[in-house]
Amino acid sequence: MKVLVVGSGGREHALGKKLHSSTQVKELYFAPGNPGTFEIGKNIDVEANDINGLANFAEKFNIDLTVVGPEIPLVEGISDVFKKKQLNIFGPSSRAARIEGSKSWAYKLMEKYSIPTARSEVFDNYTEARNYLGSQPDGSLVVKADGLAAGKGVFVSDDPKVLQNGLKNLMENHSYGKAGDRVVLSDRLIGREISVFGFVSGSKVSSLIPACDYKRAFEGDEGPNTGGMGAYSAPKIWDSKLELQINTTIFEPVARALVEENCPYFGVLYAGLMITDNGPKVIEFNCRFGDPECQVLMPRMQSDISNVFMKVLSNDAPKLQIRWKSTNTIGVVLVSGGYPGNYETGTEISGLLDASNKVTIYHSGTDFSKTGSIVTSGGRVLTVVSESDDLMVAKAECYQAIKNISFSGMRYRRDIANGIEQH
Ligand code: AMP
Ligand code: GLY
Repeated sequence: MKVLVVGSGGREHALGKKLHSSTQVKELYFAPGNPGTFEIGKNIDVEANDINGLANFAEKFNIDLTVVGPEIPLVEGISDVFKKKQLNIFGPSSRAARIEGSKSWAYKLMEKYSIPTARSEVFDNYTEARNYLGSQPDGSLVVKADGLAAGKGVFVSDDPKVLQNGLKNLMENHSYGKAGDRVVLSDRLIGREISVFGFVSGSKVSSLIPACDYKRAFEGDEGPNTGGMGAYSAPKIWDSKLELQINTTIFEPVARALVEENCPYFGVLYAGLMITDNGPKVIEFNCRFGDPECQVLMPRMQSDISNVFMKVLSNDAPKLQIRWKSTNTIGVVLVSGGYPGNYETGTEISGLLDASNKVTIYHSGTDFSKTGSIVTSGGRVLTVVSESDDLMVAKAECYQAIKNISFSGMRYRRDIANGIEQH
């Protein structure tokens, strides 16, 4: 089978590595890929958002399956274009992807179908939003851009000034473009945050797999939100009782709701959840794998990934059965100094070979220099992943391996999987 993976991050490198290990996959392409994916397949010169370019490539090269990593092409309708051309694609339609593309749409869906989430109000008008924010106790609300903002259009703080400034930046200064024209002000949920993933095929939902993501830039969960600074799986609070509760109160109802709303979901559904004293509640849904969660989940997948994808698409199996290993994994993201603000690129990365003996290194913001060496090209540069029966062993190996790697300005959080009793 010929498979095309859309995207260029660590998530796509991890999906690609898993696909590469499948005996069914004979040829693997990445659009546009990165120096990591170059090792396991062919990188093609088509951008992840170039939907027509991707469809033309898939048609011309008889691609049997296209797997979409990032949210933007999904929200913009890549699956719809591929389906019209009768090309197999793993990822939901644009109508189903609204569950991530519009927080207000997702919130209304949850409200209509009684799916547990935070009470929220939606505003198109800055003055009304500001007045509502001012009328609630300090720190009790979360300010969110309605549209896609790469995980950065959300403000959570006890300091009312941070929330007021966030709101102003979204609605008045348009710092996040159109994503901030509409905002959602949600009650702040208190509890333990986990990312949970399920494969959804119409009204069918697979068993669920969890990870903990570290979104804040600095140790101790300080600083601005980022795309993700590290992750581990499985969270200590995860057990079959919690999985059943999340499946029956969140995943199964939302899959049925999407069928009911005439936009059935086919793909992987990612729920950002808060486990509160009153049970699990949805913070947000995403229409794809998380990054860096995918990097810690792929090593744990035991089932053949290409079979899983095809089963989701064909929707003919009575059940979606997916096997996962009972191992634990940790992933630490190495970022460019300054991320998530401005940072330098083009700096040489050394030590990758030495580090790769005991751990897996997934590339994100990397590129080849003119001389063929590997240099930085983005904010999140590499994810270093380690797997073991014992999470603490995995953690020690991961941080030990990172000592081999260096580039100018390199930074990472040293507290991934610390204090895991809190998760
Ligand atoms: P989102 O992009 O909606 O996932 O928001 C980014 C991060 O902000 C989440 O991972 C949470 O840590 C935090 N957050 C968002 N909404 C809420 C909420 N209603 N209550 C508490 N924290 C939240
Ligand atoms: N790690 C968070 C995300 O992928 O949205």
